[in-house]
Amino acid sequence: MSIQVLGTGAYLPEKIVTNDDLAQMVDTSDEWIRQRVGVVERRISVNESAADMAVKAAQRALEAAGITADQLELIVAATVSNDEICPGVGAQVQAAIGASCPAFDVNSACSGFLFALDTAAAFIARGGIRYALVLGAERISRILDWTDRSTCIIFGDGAGAFVIAPGENYLTSHLFTKGSREELYIPMDKGNSPFYEKEVAPLAVHMSGQATFKFAVRRIVDDINIVCDQIGIKPADLSYIVPHQANVRIIDFAAKKLGLPAEKFVVNIDKYGNTSSASVAISFDELARSGKLKKGDLIAMVAFGGGLSSAACIIKW
Ligand code: COA
Repeated sequence: MSIQVLGTGAYLPEKIVTNDDLAQMVDTSDEWIRQRVGVVERRISVNESAADMAVKAAQRALEAAGITADQLELIVAATVSNDEICPGVGAQVQAAIGASCPAFDVNSACSGFLFALDTAAAFIARGGIRYALVLGAERISRILDWTDRSTCIIFGDGAGAFVIAPGENYLTSHLFTKGSREELYIPMDKGNSPFYEKEVAPLAVHMSGQATFKFAVRRIVDDINIVCDQIGIKPADLSYIVPHQANVRIIDFAAKKLGLPAEKFVVNIDKYGNTSSASVAISFDELARSGKLKKGDLIAMVAFGGGLSSAACIIKW
């Protein structure tokens, strides 16, 4: 048994932070950020946690799906930046929307939403679950070093949500992990134990930009080819690709290597930056609400990030 996507939702906090705003904080410029990354502005939360944003995305997805929270039988949330270690985003959303089902979080950094979706799909395939809510939510601004111009200019906050149910539309998926902290890691500092002697770096996104860039392009290309092979289609048969929004040049390189026109790729990094595990869910929601999708369209979602991790899947609309 596979799944179908019944409804999607997204939420972005109101505050817009432009490149010019950041140029007043670190040594950068609007021109450099637009050209090298493709971000024009991003949303930054001033009073909402990752879980607060996830609640709003979840309510929109439930409305789109035409079901109520008490009908949910599972909630799986992806995040690396909730204000609290527990309760997790999933549990906080469960309480806030009035659901009573099991809820838990997964952490696979920017690939997290697709890992969460695949997890929920596996629960549904096991049987006994009618409706599940899948979330990606980040207040990534809380874990950035706002004095580091190579990272703070890339990211933004937000949340996305899918309501899924048994169906035949999740055609295939592929998950990838290569345990490594060389390219990208987010330490949590040493913590409170008076007994622990190991040094741990301060809380922040530490990233080797070029190594991460190469990993990202390679994973998009390999993962799209793998999921297409798994169902016997060519990348050109895909109607749309919804990629993780980390750098518009990563998307452009991958599109060229796959031999696909740029128009097939959903791009909104200019408006929101990299919202980590929320990015693919927000982008898919934009596509779903754009009115462009036709019945039978094949849509690939693909993401990559810390872990290192990557994931892709194909959905038939
Ligand atoms: N403004 C101005 N200059 C900047 C800058 C900024 N915000 N950030 C870096 N620079 C400078 C560097 O200091 C360097 O200067 P130098 O040549 O004097 O040493 C120069 O720009 C080039 O740096 P480099 O790291 O080679 O730039 P880049 O073109 O690779 O872009 C990233 C840097 C981080 C934008 C890019 O590597 C990237 O997007 N990588 C992938 C990141 C990613 O996907 N992260 C999320 C994973 S989920």
